[in-house]
Order: sequence, then C-alpha cells, then structure tokens
Amino acid sequence: MRIAVVGAGRVGVPTAASLGRLGHRVAVTDVDARRIETLQAGTVPFHEPGLEELVREGQASGRLRFTDDLADALDGPEAAFLCVGTPSDPEGAADLSALQSAADAVAMIAAGPLVLAVKSTVPVGTADRLADRLGPATRVVANPEFLREGRAVEDALRPLRVIVGTEDPAARELMRHIYDPLIDDGTPYIETDPRTAEVAKHACNAFLAMKVSYVNALARVCELAGADVETVTAAMAADDRIGAAYLEAGLGFGGYCLPKDLRAFERAVAALGYDFGLLREVDRVNDEAVDAAFARIESALDGVSGKRVALLGLAFKPGTDNVTTSPALALARRLASAGATVSGFDPQAGANAKAEVPEVDLAGDPYAALERADCAVLCTEWEEFRELDPARMRDVMALPVVVDGRNALDGDALTRAGFRYMRMGAAP
Ligand code: UDX
Repeated sequence: MRIAVVGAGRVGVPTAASLGRLGHRVAVTDVDARRIETLQAGTVPFHEPGLEELVREGQASGRLRFTDDLADALDGPEAAFLCVGTPSDPEGAADLSALQSAADAVAMIAAGPLVLAVKSTVPVGTADRLADRLGPATRVVANPEFLREGRAVEDALRPLRVIVGTEDPAARELMRHIYDPLIDDGTPYIETDPRTAEVAKHACNAFLAMKVSYVNALARVCELAGADVETVTAAMAADDRIGAAYLEAGLGFGGYCLPKDLRAFERAVAALGYDFGLLREVDRVNDEAVDAAFARIESALDGVSGKRVALLGLAFKPGTDNVTTSPALALARRLASAGATVSGFDPQAGANAKAEVPEVDLAGDPYAALERADCAVLCTEWEEFRELDPARMRDVMALPVVVDGRNALDGDALTRAGFRYMRMGAAP
C-alpha cells in the first residue's frame, strides 16, 4: 500500500521505516526542510538504536522516501499517518495546534478520499473532533503509538499491541490491511472506537507513571522507617499480579511522554467532569523524588553552596540523547541555584543538556566530571557507569561521597573503596 507519514520526528521516522519494512511504499514529510534533507542523506537526526540502518534499508529498497513537499507525499496514498508533536500548553493540556494544522493541510491537499491515522498522543475526543472539522472525505482513525525511546525500532516492528479506533468499516479494513504482517505474526490487534483507543494510550502511560511514583513514595517511606525499598520491590515483583517492570525507585520519570501525557490525561478528563486526583498525586510524588536526592546531597555535604557536585548521566533515561524533563536536569538546576558548582557527563545527551542548563560544566568522560567533586550523583543508569573503577573515582574526587539516584551502582564495592554510599529508599 502507499502511505504518507506527516512528521519526521521520534514517532514519525520509526513508524515510517517500519511500515516500509512491512512492505508498504512510504513517503515521509515534515515542515522542517532541513530535517528532511538530513533524512534524505540517510542520517537520522536523533539517537535511536537501529533506526538509521532501517531507514537506509528502506531507502535502498525504494519503499521509503523523504520529501519536504506535502503535496508530493500525498500524491496517491490511501492512508496518511499523523505523527506530529502534541506538547503541553501552559495549563498542562495537550496543545493540538500542530496536529490541527497538519490535518487541515492533508485534507486540503489530498486528491481523493483518505484514511487519516492519528499516531500522535491526543486527548479523548480528538479524532471525533478532527472528523467533524475535516468532513466525510477524510476518515479519521485513532491509532496511538507506543514507542519507547531507545527501543523504538523494536516497538515499531514487534509491537506489544496495535490499537485501531474507528467506526468506519472501510477504514477498519484498510488499517487491518496495513498491519496484516503484524497480525499474522500474532501481535495483539485491538479494534475499537476512536475514543476508546485514545483513552487506552493515556491510560497506559499514566499507569506506568503511577507505578514509578508508587515505588518512589515507598522509597520515602523506607527512608523514614529505616526499611529497604529494593527488598520491598523484590517482594512485590515476585507477585505476577504486580509485575516487576517500572518498579525501580530513583529520581523519577521524565522524557517527552510520561510527564506530558499524565497531565494531558488529567486535563482531558477534568474537561469531561471527572476529577482524576490520583494523577495529580503521581505528578507531585515524581517531583518529590528530585527533592529527596537534593536533600540527601545537602545533608551529606552539610550544605551545597560552594561545593562541587558531579552528575553521572543527564538523559532522562539510558539509551537516549533526550533531556526533555530529565530529572537529572531538574537536580542540576536545583544544585546550581543553591550555589553548587555542577559538573556532568552523559554518553549521548551532553550537548542537549548543556543547551538546556548552561551552568553544567560538561566533561568529556566520567572521571573528568568527577575531578575535584565533593559528591557524585548517579542520575541516569547507563551501563558504563556500573563499570567505573571505585579506586580511580576515589583518587580524582575531593570527597568520597556517592548518591545513587537510580540504585544501580555496586554499593558494596564503593563502600569497600572508602566511599560513603547512599541510595534512594534506604536509610543514609
Ligand atoms: C514511554 C512509554 O513507555 C511508551 O510506551 C510511550 O509511548 C512513550 O512514553 P519513554 O518516554 O521512552 O516511553 O520512557 P520509558 O522507558 O517508559 O521511561 C519513562 C521514565 O520512567 C524514564 O525517565 C525512566 O527513567 C523512568 N522509570 C522507568 C523509572 O524511574 N523507574 C522505572 O522502574 C521505570
């Protein structure tokens, strides 16, 4: 089938490349002509493992192409996938202006009837409202993405589920045709109405955020009680009704999606008349995690003013160069405004972090970041930080203090090397 993908970002490119791999002919377009030019040259302008290879494979096979001309992308496809951003507005609700203008442009330019699949995360009711706005020639389908950064290729090629929301039988048929190879592979394929599909997406991300905040609230409880959150979560994870995933205590969740989707979901249901206060609590507890790490550092150093604190990891999670709402940067800002000198290293996200928080003294390797530091804080659990040599760390640092903001380091090895080692969710 011929498909147009509108939006060449972290959702659009993996979506398009995977549709190419499934055998479709895909044209990707974006309002950012420079981004398109970069992609035409076979370069993916962000860090996503395996994506560049998949893009190049698609280009070589002739099934994937990039164009800065929307009319060119819309020349002949049966479906267009909308993959544009839906950022937060000042109240935390989803700002749908980019989505609406992309949808308007597609509807205006498309030569014939078209299925418009909304991949972007949107508040419930958006597909219905777009359908009213665009008229009957454009059949709007809610088809939310569930791509994890760092695993987007795997999530696009082998999704945990595909959910398609439409009440139009022809659109449902066409979407099934698009996803046929995945359905044949046994991918759970859920057909429903657009509103249910939209709620399902927000429900998944808000639930994941809730798990993380639940465990971080337990971390605060354990710190006060002299208990150990790691053992508490091991006991929880042994129960498969609870599950082991998203039970890691630490600095909390960040990224493009979880924080924004949590707030957008709360705002969307508030507009419908439901007060989902639980979601506001999840947000509050998440902020508390950074406060708790800051308090640990402050008490270990007897105040942070004039002290040097080294942050190991700046990305919101390992495997990405993304620093959007990264807890590491929230902590960096907090430390800098309390008068600390903040150094930092990240294997991928250094430049992005520096652009967001210029106060961070960016180092080229972890030991350089630790040079003369009074305290090291693990903010992102990149594998390479687990392999740091405690003796060498001790040699370069001014004081032997480690706050493990992700409970990922070998505390015993650090303690043996003479460090004061503190992790989240255990008495200091
Ligand atoms: C998320 C969803 O997982 C994905 O399905 C969705 O469509 C996009 O949003 P992503 O933003 O890539 O994906 O992040 P994810 O891997 O889910 O992690 C989110 C945050 O939670 C990270 O900051 C991570 O460090 C944090 N986290 C995760 C924890 O603090 N503890 C955990 O146990 C798990």
